[in-house]
Amino acid sequence: MANLINILDLSVEEIDRLMDLADDIMADPEKYNESCKHKILATLFFEPSTRTRLSFESAMLSLGGEVLGFSEAASSSSAKGESVADTITVVSGYSDIIAMRHPKEGAPVIGAEHALVPIINAGDGGHYHPTQTLADLLTIRHELGRMSGLKIGVCGDLKFGRTVHSLIEAMSRYDDNEFYLISPEELKLPGFVKNEYIIDKNIPYKETGSLEDCIGELDILYMTRVQRERFFNEEDYLRLRDCFILTEEKMKDAREDMIVMHPLPRVNEIQTAVDKDKRACYFKQTVYGKYMRMALILKLLEVEV
Ligand code: CP
Repeated sequence: MANLINILDLSVEEIDRLMDLADDIMADPEKYNESCKHKILATLFFEPSTRTRLSFESAMLSLGGEVLGFSEAASSSSAKGESVADTITVVSGYSDIIAMRHPKEGAPVIGAEHALVPIINAGDGGHYHPTQTLADLLTIRHELGRMSGLKIGVCGDLKFGRTVHSLIEAMSRYDDNEFYLISPEELKLPGFVKNEYIIDKNIPYKETGSLEDCIGELDILYMTRVQRERFFNEEDYLRLRDCFILTEEKMKDAREDMIVMHPLPRVNEIQTAVDKDKRACYFKQTVYGKYMRMALILKLLEVEV
């Protein structure tokens, strides 16, 4: 039984096939609208979400399946002290596939050890978010037409930003990509990502505290929110939350063919005035995310259409 805990659970070839399948679903959604009939997706969200949970649910409903689950830990028996292992064991009996989000890093690994059905990591603490990366990869392929030879700027909270960790893991497997790690000192990319996926692979990178200094070189600017929920004290969050704000003015220095991505939710880090810029791709990313999740559900349930 296959699970998706980390984006590296999928080979580059498997990701290519998922992107091809997502493209086919987008081109002809009716062909797939009964492909998961009588299948049940459980969405177990111990942490808040809008896009990930609802796009998973929309994906399963569009495949003709059913959904059940909870959207906050407080409405599940984890509020009474039930373990992740027991919750997953029980929900395995009610569903065919489970997407789970949890504030603790590694919780989906525990889930996978106890599940009788495929487990999808829908975000674990400040660790990984592989299905956001699937959405990001399809966005890059559609908007730029290539996955290699890209100068990729990741900006903001690189310490706690799990979408950045998974994106770097994924993009480090394609040739000739370079990373620009743009963050304040306190929110730099952690060693478990930087050492293994950039330094050990001899991938060129630059660490900087200035977006202005490098925006003109980038093919992709991946903005991120400062992750308030992962800070130990509010004072540090307030000091750092507005460290980078992308404005119309800053966009004047960017290349005409650069794309701006963001996993969302956005707080302050991209001014709403940038939304109308044709280079802004973050709302398109949310749509690509639904189709990649449809493709992933089909793959993990081994449904052939
Ligand atoms: N990108 C993302 O994970 O958004 P949500 O937190 O709304 O699911």
